[in-house]
Amino acid sequence: MTITTGPVSGEILDILDDPAPSRPAAGNTPDRSTLPGALALYARWEKGQWSVGDVRVERDRETWAALRPFAERELGDALTELEVGEVCVTRTLSALVDHAPTDDDRIYLCTQLADEGRHVRFFQEYLTTAAGIELDSALDEASAYGQLFEPQLVAATSRVRESGGDRGAWYEALVGYHLITEGVLAAAALRTTRVLAQRYGLHALHEGLGNVARDESRHLTYGLMAARRGVDDGEHRELIARCYLSGAELAARVMVNPHKKAITPVMTAALHARARQLTAQWQVGLDRAVRQLRLIGLPGLRDDVERSWSAAQRRALAEYRERWDTEHPVVLAA
Ligand SMILES: [Fe+2]
Ligand SMILES: [Fe+2]
Repeated sequence: MTITTGPVSGEILDILDDPAPSRPAAGNTPDRSTLPGALALYARWEKGQWSVGDVRVERDRETWAALRPFAERELGDALTELEVGEVCVTRTLSALVDHAPTDDDRIYLCTQLADEGRHVRFFQEYLTTAAGIELDSALDEASAYGQLFEPQLVAATSRVRESGGDRGAWYEALVGYHLITEGVLAAAALRTTRVLAQRYGLHALHEGLGNVARDESRHLTYGLMAARRGVDDGEHRELIARCYLSGAELAARVMVNPHKKAITPVMTAALHARARQLTAQWQVGLDRAVRQLRLIGLPGLRDDVERSWSAAQRRALAEYRERWDTEHPVVLAA
């Protein structure tokens, strides 16, 4: 089966892939002038409520039980990654709330905290009720995000607290949280997983992931707006650029995930389909990492991001070969 990350019916678009031709910026990437402020995002939140109960995850139980083992593992792994990421962000966001630069930022960030709690509930409910997957510490250990990125985000948000809200520390955490975790990793994973949910007829999953993606789109917009403010004040420009570059590098490594043996189909056609899917997802991540640069006022960082991303990906693939004594499926299919 060929899986693409192209548009699917009801796909959620966010500010980075809004194709509206009226957008003024080159490459269809909206300009800063289109970024709403914290209070406007708060107003969107008030209007965009949804509930985990209304998704009725139990309606996917039968379809899930009938999935072929390959599809079950593929989707189970993807949902586990998303769940681990969501748990991590609920544990760390409060540092950004407590030390928000303005009251408007704080009020908006409180809404985001509520969203992240709802996302954890959705993924946990889906994994246990629809997919029959037990939640335990093994999930965390198998997660690329949990192993590679979470420690960084925990350290960055701890520095915000320990410094009593140092503005540089706050921006560093914001870049790791909103721009890399949400804007690159979660956005790419949500899109791919939503395509799979639609292909396999998992209607509750498709609907729930759509709700989560809409919330995440709001979170990312806030992150872009806040980072742009930090870049424009001059004082934090270099720091934000540095954090962005190292975050993008780490994101490329998380996407390859050398720590975990990848699903590697034996049949050539299936192997190629799997490799195409992974490559497409990695490309979505890189595209987003590059497109965000214009919005945060760092378009000149593009070459550096592309170079660091490719180098990190090559290193992660070499690490994979070393660890598992076999090539990664993307390399095998090349
Ligand atoms: Fe979330
Ligand atoms: Fe989020």
